[in-house]
This record gives sequence, structure tokens and C-alpha cells, in this order.
Amino acid sequence: MDSNEFRSLGHYVVDLLAGYLEHIEERRVFPDAEPRTVNELFAEPLPQNPSSSEDVVKELQEKLLPYCTHVGHPGYMGLITPSPSPVGVIADFVCSALNQNVGAYSIGPSAVAIERRVIRWLTDLCGYDAQAGGNLTSGGMTANFIGLKVGRDAASGDRAQHEGVREPCAVYVSEERHVSVDKAVDAIGLGRNALRTLPTDDKFQVRLDALEEAVAQDKRKGIRPMCIIGVFGTTNTGAVDDIRALRRVADRDNLWLHVDAAYGGGMLLSHHWPMRDRGLELADSITIDPHKWFYAPLDVGAVLVKDHQRLTESFGIRPSYLTDELDQANERYQFYVHGFEQSRRFRSLKVWMSFKRYGARQIGEWIDNNVHQARHLYSLAENHPEFEAASAPPMSAICIRFKNAGLSETESKALHAEVAQRVEQSGRFWMSTTELKGKTWFRINPVNFRTRQEHIEQLFAMLQEGSHAVLREKDAINRASN
Ligand SMILES: Cc1ncc(COP(=O)(O)O)c(C=O)c1O
Repeated sequence: MDSNEFRSLGHYVVDLLAGYLEHIEERRVFPDAEPRTVNELFAEPLPQNPSSSEDVVKELQEKLLPYCTHVGHPGYMGLITPSPSPVGVIADFVCSALNQNVGAYSIGPSAVAIERRVIRWLTDLCGYDAQAGGNLTSGGMTANFIGLKVGRDAASGDRAQHEGVREPCAVYVSEERHVSVDKAVDAIGLGRNALRTLPTDDKFQVRLDALEEAVAQDKRKGIRPMCIIGVFGTTNTGAVDDIRALRRVADRDNLWLHVDAAYGGGMLLSHHWPMRDRGLELADSITIDPHKWFYAPLDVGAVLVKDHQRLTESFGIRPSYLTDELDQANERYQFYVHGFEQSRRFRSLKVWMSFKRYGARQIGEWIDNNVHQARHLYSLAENHPEFEAASAPPMSAICIRFKNAGLSETESKALHAEVAQRVEQSGRFWMSTTELKGKTWFRINPVNFRTRQEHIEQLFAMLQEGSHAVLREKDAINRASN
């Protein structure tokens, strides 16, 4: 591909995407096609011969775009994947063109500097001081894994990196945790049985009496309490654990405190409901995901560590083929010595460009709009005789349910699933369902700067109509069979 073709293809694609974003609301949020049909679109053997760029892009227009989930559509309020900020999209294009490998300084000096600056912005936001450090990751899952691994190493006096885990240990977390925590306790060699999942109160915050009891019980059994994981914004309802209280327990028994703010970290930018006073800075390590509520395109998560040295203790191995002999003054920062991943994408560029282009103030306004929308839905549901909300939303995630006294929980579950499917089929919205304290709920979560209040009202109307329609059809079937 010569530079003329690159230029004209690039211009064509930018025009295509500008039009896509401009008219995104006219599309169906989710495609009206069976998975088999979508798979068949791409069923071909490895191409041996070249095609023209025009033909390849034409295929994207015909086969990729129509069958996407359009997460930038204002009706997308589902699993936490934001409407990506347009400048972040451009940043990813630049990032791929330059292909800097931020694992090692010699493969990206300016990229490493930007990455370090973005990490500094994030540690400042969380209230850490200049001792802190971190890594950008593929997302919250990897960040939680690294946070726990660093915690395990610290708790073992840096023996676990070499000897493995030699004593039975336990990790404590709310039942509302993200599943990444279960995977992380397995990956660091403790096994999932070492995870104590603790009950929550009526606001879905972890119960401290249950934590105290679990720690005491483990100590009685000779099991070492190793780490507490606090949640700063649960996936279902945005609940924030009492981080100060968790810190007190951790200090008393010498446990590591990791806080999962993958979703809730966005609230640090909020103007109306800033959560900078919740003690996040007391955590030993933090997960925060710019690709969630900072509206960065996938992928960019982050693990932040209060004491940067902990990362080096956990990962500081220098193989001979990576040694930078030219770094006489030891000034070249090598992420591979201070993190888990080696080769990695220049993820910070999209975060850096977003903060430069929009400023934290604008991003905070988008966040506040999403919280307003969740609160509006809460008051609609709470004021409706047939709906209830699981809790008042501290963030933008809200769970509501259709309560019909005549339905068993199994029937209610089937009704919520059926309504969610109809919402998807309508093409106007996408949301999920979930389980909380033994009941099924609609889970609605705007992390979308295009969503407006009217979309929330239309979705609520659709949930009412859908629930009644399913009930009517069920009654008709019952009558016909009697
Ligand atoms: C609270 C929480 N932690 C961790 C994760 C995992 O993050 P990721 O999907 O970026 O790996 C999620 C994802 O939704 C989450 O909500």
C-alpha cells in the first residue's frame, strides 16, 4: 500500500465513521439477526490473493457495521461499555500507526512519558501521593489480578514470588464483587475456596460484622487473613463499601487492602456527587477503568499502587535480552520491570488526548448527566405502583423490577428475561437483567454521553408495556389450556 492509497483509504474511513457517529441514533442498537447468520457472513478460507482496499472496506460496510452492537447509540444502557469519545477513536488510530511498545523505553520514549503522566493523573485523582505508581492494563479483570498478586507478595514478605503460597490464606470481598475477583484468587495460587464472599446490607455495601466474623473464624482455624477487597461502585447498583472501616480491619490484622473502582472511579470526576471523600486513597492498590466511565474506547484499565516499589518487588526481573545497555544513567523507565505485561499497546494516548481535548470538567458533566438519568429512572420506578428499585442509585447503574404479587420468583424471572428480549428485538434500547438477593431485576446502566432524559422515559414506558404484554399473553395461554 503506497502513501497515496493509505491517504485516500484513511480519508474515506474517517468520512465513513463521521457519518456513522452523526447518524448513530437512526440505527438499531442490536442487530436483528441470528448468531448463525452473523457467523456465516465471515465463513471463508484464509484469503490467498489480495483484494482492493475499496472491496475490503465495502465488506466492512456490508457485514461488520450492520451487525454491531452500537454502544454509542443513546439507547445502549447495558453492560459497562461506554459511548467512546471521538477523540479517543482518533487516538487509537494514531496509536496503531506509531505502534509504540510501552513495555520498554527503547521502543517508545515519548509514549512511555505520556503513559507515566496519565498514571500520575489517575493516582492524583485517587488521592495518592508521588510515591504511587501503576500500570495501564487490558481492563479491570487484569487490574484486579495484578492488585491481588502485588498484595499476595507483600503479605508473604516477598516470598510467594519465589516459593509459591506456603500457608492457607483467605481473601474477603462483598457478594456483589465482580467475577474478576474469583478468577484472581485462583490465578494467584490461593484457589477460589480461599475467597470469603460476604453478605451486603440493604444498600448493597459489604456488612462489616460479617467481615469481622469471617476474619475471626479464619484465625481460629489457623488460616491467614491476607487481603480485603473493597468495592467502589458495584457492577449491579454502584454501591460503595465503607473503605475507612475496611482500612481499620486491614490495619489491625495486617491485611492488604485492594479497592475495585473499575466502574465507580468515574465518580471522582463528578461535580454534583464527587466521591473524593470516601477514603479511596487509603487502599494499598486500586483498580480504575478509563474504558468504563471516562468514555475511553476499549481497551484501557489501570491498576494503581500506593507504593510504587511494590510493583517492582512483584515483577522486577530483567532478562538479558531486554537489558538496555544504553541507559547508563538509569533514567529510562522500563514498564516491564514494574508490571506484568511485556509488549503492550500505547493505551494511555486515548486517555491523554481525551483529557486534553475535553478537560476533566466536561467528562465530569457527562458523568453527572448519567447519574441524573439513573436517579430519574429511580423516581419513575418508585412512584409507579407496579415497579420497585433495588436501591437509590449512588452512580448510574440502577436495578428495577416489575412486581406482580401473582407471580412466583421463577415466573418473575421468566417475565423479566422475556421483556429484556423484546427490548433487544425492538432495536431501540439494550439493557440486561441480573439477580440481587434472590430476585430478578432489569439492570439499566447509562455510561453514555448521548443518552438523554427522554430515552430513560421511553425505556421505562417500554418496560411497563412489555411487562403487561407478557402477563396478558401468559393469562391467555392459561385460559386456553383450562
Ligand atoms: C466492578 C467491576 N470490576 C471489574 C470489572 C472488569 O473490568 P473489565 O471488563 O474492564 O475487565 C468490571 C466490569 O464490568 C466491574 O464492573
